Amino acid sequence: MQYKNYKNVVILEHPLLKHKITLLRDKNTGTTEFRSLIEEIAMLEAYEALWDLPLVDVEVETPIEKCMSPVIDGKKFAIVPILRAGLGMVNGIHTLVPGAKVGHIGLYRDPETHEPHAYYSKLPEQLDQRLVVVLDPMLATGGSAVEAIRFVKEQKAQQIKFLCIIASPEGLERLAETHPDIGIYVGNLDRGLNENAYICPGLGDAGDRIFGTK
Ligand code: PRP
Ligand code: URA
Repeated sequence: MQYKNYKNVVILEHPLLKHKITLLRDKNTGTTEFRSLIEEIAMLEAYEALWDLPLVDVEVETPIEKCMSPVIDGKKFAIVPILRAGLGMVNGIHTLVPGAKVGHIGLYRDPETHEPHAYYSKLPEQLDQRLVVVLDPMLATGGSAVEAIRFVKEQKAQQIKFLCIIASPEGLERLAETHPDIGIYVGNLDRGLNENAYICPGLGDAGDRIFGTK
């Protein structure tokens, strides 16, 4: 479903996705199950978002005869998680596209200002020739996603998608307006942000829940 008149935004609606997001929200869901759910949700989102993955024909011999048949051209695909929480989504997508290259962008949100601060980056070469999929489960103020996309564009990425699991309307509109040329895929649009810029009802701190740091 498109969000308002933002043509680059898709709110995903598959019932399997909604079901798993509900389990993810539950404060009684422990770290192990939380990590599995994040991976499964990433896989379901990728299935919907990556409908235009580049294909290349290879020869295959069936029990009947040889034929040419398409496989995903993993060399033209890069997954870029925003650290830390985006890391939780990587395996789900890597399972679908094992040949994908993986880059990393380290950003943390200042607890007072909520502004993103960059502390690490390592991206695959030739980004301009790849579909670049940036991952972060949470789109809150949008500051981290806006900065990560700005950075991959600066590194010459041209075809970019952003996948998140939960978004606030504020963050989603900010990202869609700042980067109208990327595809944005959202597992669920929540009500809004609280005074600490946490998504409500949300799921709490995604990084802490994935890595058990609180
Ligand atoms: C969280 C989350 C996003 C960001 C979203 O990361 O994973 O990257 O906050 O907030 P924003 O839209 O307001 O920028 P955090 O900075 O807490 O770092 P962490 O993943 O290392 O815990
Ligand atoms: N980061 C999170 O992990 N959760 C939020 O609700 C907002 C930012």
